[in-house]
Amino acid sequence: MELQEFVASLESLALQAEKAFDNANSAEEFEAARVQFVGARSGQMKAIQKELGSVQAESRPEAGKKLNEAKNRIQAALDAAQVRVDSSGASTKVTGPLLDPTLPGTRRHLGRVHPITQTIEHLKEIMGRLGFAVVEGPEVEDTWHNFIALNIPEDHPARDPLDNFYLSVAGKTAVDVNADEARLLRSQTSTVQIRVMEANPPPVRIISLGRVYRPDPADATHFPMFHQMEGLWIERGVNMAQLKSVLRMFATSYLGGDVTIRFRPSFFPFTEPSVEADFLWNDQWIEFGGAGMVDPNVLKAVGYDPEQVTGFAFGLGVERLCMRRHGVLDIRDLYRNDLRFLHQF
Ligand code: FA5
Repeated sequence: MELQEFVASLESLALQAEKAFDNANSAEEFEAARVQFVGARSGQMKAIQKELGSVQAESRPEAGKKLNEAKNRIQAALDAAQVRVDSSGASTKVTGPLLDPTLPGTRRHLGRVHPITQTIEHLKEIMGRLGFAVVEGPEVEDTWHNFIALNIPEDHPARDPLDNFYLSVAGKTAVDVNADEARLLRSQTSTVQIRVMEANPPPVRIISLGRVYRPDPADATHFPMFHQMEGLWIERGVNMAQLKSVLRMFATSYLGGDVTIRFRPSFFPFTEPSVEADFLWNDQWIEFGGAGMVDPNVLKAVGYDPEQVTGFAFGLGVERLCMRRHGVLDIRDLYRNDLRFLHQF
């Protein structure tokens, strides 16, 4: 196609379109003109645009320029018509308020704090009132903090690879790593007792809450990852009666005055004597923690003098406390991430 012919048909189209938009006095007329000239499917502008390809190559840049000019003219006519029609067209004009307050709103889904995190905050608050400061410790531990300083010798079954998550270190698989280099996911928060006593002279009165890991098969009361609250109070003259009072006060504050708890003789390498604390639930005793007077060997390992200070420590299962308080019957529910369950907290 010759350039002149193309420009002539552009001119004629632009004139027709301008006339049609100028004459449009209702929304319907405006819409008809819009579809006829600039409709995305079969508008005339679209058709003429396709013809650009048939203009001789050397004239095509000029033809493209003219096409844009025509487009701009038509768009200007369309815009003017739209403003005119919108402000006068009674049929399309909205008369009432733009917002319909009777329509239901869009519900926003608010997240909420996981029940275990809620429990942790609650436990910190109760223990804070009893004068215990909060400290944190690492989840990847060495054998000194997880075992040796806690009076757990090399041949103790608690150190068995089958009972712990040992890590491969410096390219060596866990079984090839020697005891000094070994690293593991901590199996108890008692590690933090050692870290705190190494870094601070007595007296200390702390709690530490965090995750611990054990290759326990999951069932209604066990999970391979769970949380413990460790407590430690070392000072001159701290005794077993205070341990029992603190645990009893804690249990009744958190679980309610009507909770029945008992202390049962037990054994931990790092406490002497040791007890296990249980609560009664559905006619069954469920263990919620271990505790005892800190073994003199542990005090010596961190440079404390067992002739000068004594103290107690305890380690409580956070999931079990949370379950007992909220009536959750299966620990696995806490970690299924089922929102129908989690929304209840
Ligand atoms: C200990 O871990 C000792 N460190 C506690 C301790 C601290 C004793 C300080 C003396 C002094 P035990 O292995 O019993 O003890 O674990 C403590 C609590 O963690 C249990 O009573 C239980 O409530 C919880 N627990 C243990 N294993 C699991 C598991 N697999 N899933 C959920 N909770 C668990």
